Amino acid sequence: MSLTSVVVPTTPIEGQKPGTSGLRKKVKVFMEPNYTENFIQCLLDAQGEKLQGSTLVLGGDGRYYTTKCIRLTIKIAAANGVSKLIIGQRGLLSTPAVSSLIRTYKVLGGIVLTASHNPGGIRNDFGIKYNIENGGPAPDHLSHRIYDLTTTIKQYKIVHDLDCEFQEIGTHSFQVDGKEFTVEVIDPTDNYVELMKSIFDFPKLKTLIRGTDGQPPFNVLIDSMNGVTGVYVKRIFLDELNSGQDSAVRYIPLDNFGEIHPDPNLTYAKDLVDSVKNNESFDFGAAFDGDGDRNMIIGKRAFFVTPSDSLAVLANNLECIPYFKKNGVHGFARSMPTAAAVDRVAQKLNKEMFEVPTGWKYFGNLMDAGRLSLCGEESFGTGSDHIREKDGIWAVLAWLSVIEYKRKGVEDILKEHWQLYGRNYFTRYDYEECESDAASDMMQHLEGLIKTGEIVGKSFSDSGKQYKIKKMDNFSYTDPIDNSEAMNQGVRILFEDGSRLIFRLSGTGSSGATIRVYIDSYEKENVTADAQAMLKPLVNIGLQISKLKEFTGREEPTVIT
Ligand code: G6P
Ligand code: ZN
Repeated sequence: MSLTSVVVPTTPIEGQKPGTSGLRKKVKVFMEPNYTENFIQCLLDAQGEKLQGSTLVLGGDGRYYTTKCIRLTIKIAAANGVSKLIIGQRGLLSTPAVSSLIRTYKVLGGIVLTASHNPGGIRNDFGIKYNIENGGPAPDHLSHRIYDLTTTIKQYKIVHDLDCEFQEIGTHSFQVDGKEFTVEVIDPTDNYVELMKSIFDFPKLKTLIRGTDGQPPFNVLIDSMNGVTGVYVKRIFLDELNSGQDSAVRYIPLDNFGEIHPDPNLTYAKDLVDSVKNNESFDFGAAFDGDGDRNMIIGKRAFFVTPSDSLAVLANNLECIPYFKKNGVHGFARSMPTAAAVDRVAQKLNKEMFEVPTGWKYFGNLMDAGRLSLCGEESFGTGSDHIREKDGIWAVLAWLSVIEYKRKGVEDILKEHWQLYGRNYFTRYDYEECESDAASDMMQHLEGLIKTGEIVGKSFSDSGKQYKIKKMDNFSYTDPIDNSEAMNQGVRILFEDGSRLIFRLSGTGSSGATIRVYIDSYEKENVTADAQAMLKPLVNIGLQISKLKEFTGREEPTVIT
């Protein structure tokens, strides 16, 4: 079929600034006239010359508006000289799968249609995020370029008559403005399953899960929270590892995630926590977010593993995973608010250790330079240099590999780790949908404290515990590879004993402001206490210093993780 593109005049639309992970807004905002068209056009324009004749991967977590957005993207990409789109069947591709496809097929990049862990459905969020050639999230300078273009856009190009279905696997070719344009619809799981099989020892994992004559089965419960990981869980756990029908729940992707908040933490994945707590036969539980890059790990009776501890335990045991045996283990990294448990492992194993700002994009350069093998974030992200995104299913397979290797359950592994290294108690308080002005006033108040510096050296006490402030700053980072700088990445209050309080505004919300307070405190000996009780004095001190209640009127956080 021979088709022609047309140019449609448009005008800039305010507020198309990508956040921590792409542009996220309410679905109804994306539905406004030209809103999606403008953004896609700018995203493509930001690629410059490289766009002509390029191939892009396209897909997402299947949330409401995905189909519409894919149809539009096909029409706009074709009009702008893209020569091929690789699309997941029914528009489905997890974020890790997109990263892997970009790398396997060495294409220009990928467009991921997701708002990650934010709720979906017509009343909730949609999102568009761009991943670059290395498979990782767009770096800041590219996001800024996209945003700048959205403020001056005058026209977009589109092929109105290009309708291409993507429900079935197959290849479709078109002639657009005299050039060939191809849409290849692929199985969303094939490439990713291959990758996992090349990293992990599947026969061993299968033996662990099924059990042997001498070993009982190791019963897992995997909760996809109605997100896109469902299709991968079915292939990997149910088909390949033969984990049994009872081992997977909510594994059919739904466009509104069944009206739940697809975020794997103790609050939003409470169903999983309750199921594992109430059923002694489960040895392990895991949940993922909508697009499959986040994970939560729990052990028998729902013993919770903080993401910071998860990272440290994996770092300490990587030799049991074939991928690392083959490629070696280079450095480790964590985001700044993530508890410093992994730092101790790095020190013991004599590995390089990096502390980067919040956001997976900051790990990419280090990985590309061969200096980073494993990294993680307190926000339930864990991953390695096998791709350039965090990877929920990978994290679960990594944990199962450690369990298989050590022949111990989750809780025993953690306790053994703490005995060896001491424990970084960690918690995060989230105050969601605060008034934006109130939240920024609070941050300014903290900035003021940094400026005068008077607080340094002062002691604060609560419930019989005393903490003395050693340093207070706003975290900034210089990338060791390309020297790019990221400023104002979170206010840190560092105490004499190594404890830390961190205040940051979330960069992933779609309305209002979310204040995050991160609390990290190290104990060498007392390693099995309740984290919330242990950290309460520090929380109170944080509330006192920040005047959070006064500024926001909030008595309690919305979520504690
Ligand atoms: C996304 C990114 C993560 C980051 C998180 C922070 O999930 O992929 O790398 O840690 O956002 O979210 P926040 O809401 O705290 O900005
Ligand atoms: Zn996500």
